[in-house]
Amino acid sequence: MLEELKEIRLKAFTELGSASDFKELEQWRIRYLGKKSRLTQILRSISTLSIEERRNTGAHANAMRKSLEEALEEKSHALKTSHFAPSLENRVDITLPGYPIPIGRSHPTTQTIEEICQVFQNMGFQIFEGPDVEWDYYNFEALNIPADHPARDMFATFWIDSNRGMKNRLLRTHTSPMQIRVMEQLKPPIRMIVPGRCYRYEATDTTHESMFYQVEGLAVDKNITMADLKGTLFDFCRCIFGDERKVRFRCDYFPFVEPGVEIAIECLACHGNGCRTCGYTGWIEILGAGMVNPNVLRGVGLDPDVYSGFAFGMGVERIPMLRYGIDDIRLFYNNDIRFLRQF
Ligand code: PHE
Repeated sequence: MLEELKEIRLKAFTELGSASDFKELEQWRIRYLGKKSRLTQILRSISTLSIEERRNTGAHANAMRKSLEEALEEKSHALKTSHFAPSLENRVDITLPGYPIPIGRSHPTTQTIEEICQVFQNMGFQIFEGPDVEWDYYNFEALNIPADHPARDMFATFWIDSNRGMKNRLLRTHTSPMQIRVMEQLKPPIRMIVPGRCYRYEATDTTHESMFYQVEGLAVDKNITMADLKGTLFDFCRCIFGDERKVRFRCDYFPFVEPGVEIAIECLACHGNGCRTCGYTGWIEILGAGMVNPNVLRGVGLDPDVYSGFAFGMGVERIPMLRYGIDDIRLFYNNDIRFLRQF
């Protein structure tokens, strides 16, 4: 029996040495330490042996069982560490790409405003911002739109104070009130750009939102003419829409300018053939402009015989709408991340 134990021991250690995974290890355990293993049988039969044999074989068999168990433990530990953690390089695959960190980006409106401002900054315009909550005076009165003026209908207004009169507050319907605020503060020459939110009390649809952005512009100095207006704005259109894009320039009416004009560009969606985006006209109006009305200049204490100026105001969302073929302005402010991620 001692001979047999020796043999088992030799075989067991050889086989254990070549076991290369946990499955083989488990089979090995069943084979040498399991209930039906020869060693277990021997251990069970010890009680049937003579006292002499019992002492000898029993001690050997028990010692062997112990050493096999220890060897198994050791081997299992070795397998574990060799598989998963012999060193840092193996535990952590430093060549794997990391988890992507989501990076935010500017809203398409913000991107457009920055681009517009950059174009005008390059031409020497200064950037200002003004309040969203305005006085009637700045939004209308000082812009040559008195209380009973029919042009007030152009601007469906969100009133904040219920009494309509001289000193009442509203959400600005355009960025033009900043023309007045800046002319009150600065002496010509003035070249300014004002990006900001505007509000109109209107039903929303694909091209109208009750909150939208405008960029206002104003240049006041001696000898400013319509040629300056045209040159500046055509240059702007070329910077934003490219040299090839056709620009249309024609008369329009705004109480605070005289004469007033409107600039439209050839529809990018249909290349002037007419489509849903341009209302089948082939053109998209992007801004209103004109020579500052003498009444407005007088209102801020400038002599219209000495000074003249041009002003313009453009809708911001129109530009990305045109560029990317976005057919609904409401997408901009729904905060739908699937929309915003595209820019
Ligand atoms: N404020 C006008 C609008 O909102 C645009 C405009 C600005 C027109 C300046 C002329 C001069 O429609």
